[in-house]
Amino acid sequence: MQRKFKFFVNGERVEVDGDGDMPLLWALRDKLGITGPKYGCGSGICRACTCHLDGEEVQTCQVPLSECRNKRVTTIEGLADGDQLHPVQQAWIDADVGQCGFCQPGQIMTAVALLERTSEPSDADIAAIENMCRCGTYVRIREAIKAAAAGDVGTPDDPPDNDKPDKPGKPDNPGKSQDRGKGGKPDVGEPEESVEEPSEPDDSVIGGIGSSVG
Ligand code: FES
Ligand code: FES
Repeated sequence: MQRKFKFFVNGERVEVDGDGDMPLLWALRDKLGITGPKYGCGSGICRACTCHLDGEEVQTCQVPLSECRNKRVTTIEGLADGDQLHPVQQAWIDADVGQCGFCQPGQIMTAVALLERTSEPSDADIAAIENMCRCGTYVRIREAIKAAAAGDVGTPDDPPDNDKPDKPGKPDNPGKSQDRGKGGKPDVGEPEESVEEPSEPDDSVIGGIGSSVG
């Protein structure tokens, strides 16, 4: 029977018409257009659909709408604070975790829930995560969770210009970089006298250049 279900998604009050047995994942994706949670198996195994319900990690393909009345749903879209990514999202970027990306919203929601339960997750805690990744990003997921737990996320600001070390020049190409003074003038002292007469051009080389740029 079709009924109205009112609950909150990422802080916004929403109203969904549907059957009480409809999985929350269907409501999020098909009724509300929130597509971060992914449909993988539809049977509670892959965990690609993981979101939070009243702060608890759930597989939304297994939660009926009838259980969502007046509850707070958080999806991957609701993790950031405006332009400020959640530290776990930033850690994911720092560690370059994603490959195809399909499982990653669920992985991140699971990691956030884990870090809310325990601020210093052990290797065993992380190994107990059941979210599947067909691309095998598990090692980087572990690295990102550890970095987020340690607060070691984000790129440090660039140092001021006067703190930046001079770029070393290329030792085998002195005419290109470090020998240029202000205004682009060479700054290498007196030019050396040429010791060799220029040789005749090699026709085969010139022919090759001509054919490549012509
Ligand atoms: S789609 Fe929900 S667990 Fe796989
Ligand atoms: S990144 Fe492809 S399935 Fe996990």
